[in-house]
Amino acid sequence: MTANVTRLAPHLIGLLPLAWLIGDALGNRLTANPIQYLTQRTGWFALALLLASLACTPLNRWLGWKPVMRWRKPLGLYSFGYASLHLAIFAALDYGLDLSLISQAVIEKRYIIAGFLAFLLLVPLAITSTAGWQRRLKQWWRRLHRLVYLAAALAVAHYLWLSKDPRPALLAGSVLIVLLVARFPARQSWQRVVQWRYERTQRQTRTRR
Ligand code: HEM
Repeated sequence: MTANVTRLAPHLIGLLPLAWLIGDALGNRLTANPIQYLTQRTGWFALALLLASLACTPLNRWLGWKPVMRWRKPLGLYSFGYASLHLAIFAALDYGLDLSLISQAVIEKRYIIAGFLAFLLLVPLAITSTAGWQRRLKQWWRRLHRLVYLAAALAVAHYLWLSKDPRPALLAGSVLIVLLVARFPARQSWQRVVQWRYERTQRQTRTRR
């Protein structure tokens, strides 16, 4: 029973925003500017789920809650799903798939450049999220997937540059920094420093001889 709940939870979390959007559409709550409303909502869901996916490793490491490690991938993929929907709404509904207008916006507006780069980084991460790709890429898989922090930072910059009120974006940025720091256990960092100092002393002794 508990195992089923923990397996279903990331899918419930990932699908809830979609149910919210459908509820808003059916209940005529898409505001006077439905395209902007949908763009903003899908963008926000994409960022929130990306941060939720990044929170899984620290939650396991600091609170010892192992099942959450299985949530990383589905939450990351739902984030990518909302980011794709966000881009599709922007490109199809807002810009009518006019490629020259879209490329002009990408070149001219720095917040669009940041969002575009964040999306481009998420594409290879989503494609290589399967166990098959993890096996094929071996240690490169981990290195590649660290790019998710860069994608999240670009998404925060995108949010910061487009908003009149910087506070929500700054809050998202602070959460990202906390998650990045919390990812590395203090003990491991100290071990690295101690190891590095030991090796440096060894090198210095050898060169003196
Ligand atoms: C090619 C990629 C992207 C484009 C063209 C794009 C475009 C936009 C546009 C036009 C807005 C609405 C601006 C307004 O208020 O009128 C927006 C908002 C937003 N986008 Fe993006 N975006 C992209 C990628 C992303 C990605 C990858 C994320 C997150 C992972 C993201 C997160 C957000 C957030 C959080 C907002 C603000 C939502 C709010 O105001 O509550 N965007 N984006």
